[in-house]
Amino acid sequence: MAEGVLYCTLLVLLGSAWSTLAQDTRLMRHLEHFTNVRNPAAVSNDAVLEARAYIKDQFSQYGLQVRINQFSTNVVVFNQERTVIGENIIGIARGYLGSPVLVVGADYDSTLEESPLENNGAGVAALLEIARNYMRMTGPGELYRRVKTVLFVAFDLNTREYANAQSDFRYGLPGSYHFLHQFLWPFLNQSANNFQGAIILDSISKFSERNNTQYLPPGFDLAFPEARHIGTQGAKGNFMALFSLGSAAIQRLTSTIISSYSRDPKSRMMRIQELLVNSNVNQGSTVPMFNHQSHFSFWTFQPADTPVSLPAVLLTDTGVYRSPGEECSIPCSAQNFLTPTRHDFIRLTTRSLTTAVLQLQAERTSSSSSQYHLYTNDGNPGGAAMMMTYTVSTLMVVCLLLLLQ
Ligand SMILES: *[C@@H]1O[C@H](CO)[C@@H](O)[C@H](O)[C@H]1NC(C)=O
Ligand SMILES: *[C@@H]1O[C@H](CO)[C@@H](O)[C@H](O)[C@H]1NC(C)=O
Repeated sequence: MAEGVLYCTLLVLLGSAWSTLAQDTRLMRHLEHFTNVRNPAAVSNDAVLEARAYIKDQFSQYGLQVRINQFSTNVVVFNQERTVIGENIIGIARGYLGSPVLVVGADYDSTLEESPLENNGAGVAALLEIARNYMRMTGPGELYRRVKTVLFVAFDLNTREYANAQSDFRYGLPGSYHFLHQFLWPFLNQSANNFQGAIILDSISKFSERNNTQYLPPGFDLAFPEARHIGTQGAKGNFMALFSLGSAAIQRLTSTIISSYSRDPKSRMMRIQELLVNSNVNQGSTVPMFNHQSHFSFWTFQPADTPVSLPAVLLTDTGVYRSPGEECSIPCSAQNFLTPTRHDFIRLTTRSLTTAVLQLQAERTSSSSSQYHLYTNDGNPGGAAMMMTYTVSTLMVVCLLLLLQ
């Protein structure tokens, strides 16, 4: 009997260790390539080069057509203005109808001050997972087929996040601006009608159930009356924010994202909160919450004399406005970073966005009939790992039965 207990305990431990390991491998493997500072002012450029190589390699492994959009912009390094070359990396999943085109994007550079995993390694890891799952689930013989085009984009040099208040220097335009002008607009044949919208992931890993982990700038309640409860219910950083202009052009995109997010059982703990940036309301000091991320280049797009605001949403934990107190001192390893909470929060985003992108740009093949496939295989380990999990689980059951006799 005592031996039985010992064996069973060992098996339980082995089983749980294995399932954690199996669950985490993909995200962890992506994150391992984004642990160091990726900025022109960093001591070494190696981290940028490694990140670029990894993203390109992953995109092509998933079967995406890889395009590089090179651009030059100005940055300030040791109080000197310098011109640098950036690379936006684009993975194209063409559909047979082509348009309207959807963009899913995340910045892969980082600032000198913030955690390179938080801002925005986690967003890039999620981007890669969404791309991988989308391509896998629309592959030959799979449940879906690609109808409309999706562009998965890793943006370089978000200079809007580099500028600091003390500096008089002028930073150049960010990577997303150049992507829009040089790549996307020609790709859309200069027509907003060919565009479905953009989903931007920028800082998506911070989560806390504790009071006062979410800072709300003055005027937040007036700017976002729909989110007034955040302040009255203890200012908890326990949600994913979705910033949107609430225009007709974006409604289908936001409702698809919100409904697939809210259908996920995990969203009972980690909800999504839409924040409508209403041009008729004075957004006051809430503006810095949403004016420096890449979606802003879409909102403010102006190809010629007249502005053409392109639909885009920002998914974010609100970055510096949230402090869960779960620090990972720099340099932080991917392993230490990926706590169960961060893991669950990021995975909820990748799962629900994969579903949303499939709904928007793909269609069911005639042979498909169940939703089950989507939730079981999404982002999980390969066959060998699954076999191992099943074997351990079966042994555990046998073990329990023996004990109960
Ligand atoms: C742009 O025009 C070309 C040529 O007519 C067409 O093949 C392509 O699908 C169009 N692109 C989009 C995004 O509609
Ligand atoms: C958190 O804030 C709410 C609302 O202000 C309050 O009712 C609750 O007691 C607080 N909880 C803790 C643990 O302080």
